[in-house]
Amino acid sequence: MRITVIGCGYLGAVHAACMAKLGHEVVGIDVDERKIADLSAARAPFFEPGLGVLLEEVLETGRLSFTTDASAARGSSVHFICVGTPQKKGENAADLTYVDAAITSLIPHIAPGDIIVGKSTVPVGTASRLAGTIEEAQLEAHLLWNPEFLREGHAVSDTLHPDRLVYGVADGSEEHEAVQLLDLVYAGPIESGTPRLVTDLPTAELVKTAANSFLATKISFINAMAELCDAAGADVTLLADAIGLDDRIGRKFLNAGIGFGGGCLPKDIRAFMARAGELGADQALTFLREVDAINMRRRTRVVELTRELCGGSLMGQRITVLGAAFKPNSDDVRDSPSLSIAAQLQLQGAVVTVTDPEALENAARRFPELHYEKFTEEALRRADAVLLLTEWREYVEIDPFDAARLVSSAKLLDGRNVLDAAKWRAAGWTYRGLGRP
Ligand code: UDX
Repeated sequence: MRITVIGCGYLGAVHAACMAKLGHEVVGIDVDERKIADLSAARAPFFEPGLGVLLEEVLETGRLSFTTDASAARGSSVHFICVGTPQKKGENAADLTYVDAAITSLIPHIAPGDIIVGKSTVPVGTASRLAGTIEEAQLEAHLLWNPEFLREGHAVSDTLHPDRLVYGVADGSEEHEAVQLLDLVYAGPIESGTPRLVTDLPTAELVKTAANSFLATKISFINAMAELCDAAGADVTLLADAIGLDDRIGRKFLNAGIGFGGGCLPKDIRAFMARAGELGADQALTFLREVDAINMRRRTRVVELTRELCGGSLMGQRITVLGAAFKPNSDDVRDSPSLSIAAQLQLQGAVVTVTDPEALENAARRFPELHYEKFTEEALRRADAVLLLTEWREYVEIDPFDAARLVSSAKLLDGRNVLDAAKWRAAGWTYRGLGRP
């Protein structure tokens, strides 16, 4: 099939490459010329494991191309919308400018029988509104909403082997002709057993925001338990292991630490609350305000613990922060809890050095006032305290004896509860976890 992918960011670039991998002819369209030049040369514009190799492989087949020219959509029968829906400045609601612009740019190039497939995370009701626009334009094309659940750092495998496929269609019917067409796009994953659910448009939109809200709630739940463990002298990691063995609860997403960040969970729960308010159902989601508040409290807690670790004052203390990305295997620093903590510490008088294997350029663009160091060893040298804030494998594997020889004071805050406390203590470190005695 010939497929258009509009928006070549974290979602669209991966989606375009994966659709070509599934055997389709794909054109990726984006307004950012640099991004298009990079992708056309098989350079991933961001760090995502496996994406560079995949781009090289599919570009070589000639099935994948990238352009800034929206008219390249002409001739495709399926058009995916993969643009961003960031948080509006100064508001909780989602900014739909890019989604609306994508539809406007597509309309002149749609042929009867085409399908337009939204993948971006949007407030419930958006798809029906856009379906109305398409109907008004008398295009004889159908709109579906097919939310994307990929995780950064696992984006390629999540796209090629998703947990589930959700198709929202106007009448919610399996028999809808657009469903058959989308089935052809995903024939590969469907044949290998991926469950596929057909819903109406609002349900499909809600599946995505509900899933992200559940995940955010799970993380804030365990972080609230960490606060309690701190107060009671208990260990949240053992607590999570024990409750996680109940398979109704499950151990995944129960890692207490500095909280969630990134381009999705924080803004998605806020946009969800804003939308519920517009629908007159705000009470249903007031608990998400608490989920958000618990999450933001983690950052303050780390600053306070660091102050304690430094003997009561941050003034002039040399603090090394390991990890700037919002999670490992990503160079994404959007709403990164680690960087927000680093900036707070610096504001309160500490001299902060941040290191990260992939995210330093992005971090420096966002927080130019912080000091950045590429090499872990250099970053550790003469530190008064070390904070592990993003659990990259290379930081988890640091030898505590070697590290102790580099720092000026062996004090460590494990913001992700991933280090072996006994081992670090045996190497002479003052070890502090979050919610651990
Ligand atoms: C998330 C959803 O998982 C994905 O399905 C959706 O499509 C987009 O949003 P992503 O933002 O890539 O994906 O990251 P995710 O792996 O969900 O992690 C989010 C944040 O939660 C990270 O900052 C991570 O460090 C944090 N986290 C995760 C915890 O603090 N504890 C955990 O147990 C798990």
